[in-house]
Amino acid sequence: MQQVNLGMIGGGTVGSGVFHALQQNGDLMAARLGVKIAFRKIAVKAFDEPRPYLIPRALMTTDWQEVVNDPQIHVLIELVGGTGIARVMILAALAQGKTVVTANKALVSMHGPELFAAAAKQGANLYYEASVCGGIPIIKSLREGFVANQFSAIYGIVNGTCNYILTRMKLEGVDFAVVLADAQKQGYAETPPDLDIDGFDAQHKTGILASLAHGFWVDHHNIQTEGIRDVSKIDMQFAEKLGYTIKLLGIIKRVSPKSAIQVSVYPTLIPNAHVLASVNGVFNACFVRGDVVGDTLFYGRGAGKDATASAVLSDVADAALDLKNGGKVRVPPFVAHAKRGQVVPMDEIISRYYVRLSVVDRPGVLAKISAIFSAAKIGISSVIQPEGHEGESVPLILMLHDAPNAAMRKALAKIAKLPVIKSKPVMFRVETLD
Ligand code: HSE
Repeated sequence: MQQVNLGMIGGGTVGSGVFHALQQNGDLMAARLGVKIAFRKIAVKAFDEPRPYLIPRALMTTDWQEVVNDPQIHVLIELVGGTGIARVMILAALAQGKTVVTANKALVSMHGPELFAAAAKQGANLYYEASVCGGIPIIKSLREGFVANQFSAIYGIVNGTCNYILTRMKLEGVDFAVVLADAQKQGYAETPPDLDIDGFDAQHKTGILASLAHGFWVDHHNIQTEGIRDVSKIDMQFAEKLGYTIKLLGIIKRVSPKSAIQVSVYPTLIPNAHVLASVNGVFNACFVRGDVVGDTLFYGRGAGKDATASAVLSDVADAALDLKNGGKVRVPPFVAHAKRGQVVPMDEIISRYYVRLSVVDRPGVLAKISAIFSAAKIGISSVIQPEGHEGESVPLILMLHDAPNAAMRKALAKIAKLPVIKSKPVMFRVETLD
């Protein structure tokens, strides 16, 4: 049986997970694929760095160039992460015509065009299934499974850390800072947590999905990105009363004109009755609406050594089949099929809104606020002023009808300046997902 040799850079948690998974199911993969897959060299930071699964000493090196330059290695797996040396490693491997498999969402998101062009120039392939939603085969599904579809909407819970924090805030009624500190103590959230909490990890993943689904490169600078720091337990509670759950949602939605899409990441109120509202803890999910297939849902672990290993080995299998068949028989990893695609500026996007104000409890306050919304042509669909709040200021919650984000931004800026408003207005968008 033909053999495909793997080199890997990164032998820590995820790397040893990939090695272990191939040991566990390599024979099964060979039987399924008709090609044997074997590790030849693995570059590690240090031979004795902590790793959950053993890697034989004979396979390890501390020199990544030894792996990239080995002519016997056909496929390079990059698990270093970041946008610095990982880029150099991948470009070096592609320049030699090697197929590259990466889990690096930040790198693909920020340097995708350069990397895919380098791969195309050499007739090599760059695979990145593990970069979005870990073990969920969302890339392969968009690329191959849904090849006959146009996508009107994709909604993703793509960051496990944020979903874990928001889930605990909702279920335990505790505030953001408390859950974050606990999540860091337990190793669920990184220190510093900014990349996850401020929405950038979700931005990278959402941008990759948007580019793949719509066939033009979505620059990460064009993705409206807001993290979860401003979500408080009180918002969770009011959202729940109104029939909603707050999730950090990656949104990729076709808006008119037809070639334009919304690509954004922000905390979003979604109906409790929608299946995405039940995606809890560190789990990820992607809701994909295709014009032919209809609505589909993917659910699974978005991170972790084993889920990531499953995705990496799926890419390795594709690469192995390419090598076995002497060509690229499947849909290529990224195809720019829509040259004139466009991301709609956030100001032009129409949303519904949840707004929480902190106001002086005095007659006429609501009239002042609603006059500003009314002048901006923003309709109010419901108002709650909960009883039992006493003191200097009380919460006032408004649900607002569809309005452009620019109008909303300007109206809120005016409201914030009213003397009866006691702290910065809180605003989240609402998605009905229908
Ligand atoms: N930090 C990511 C998350 C996992 O919390 O989902 C890696 O992409």
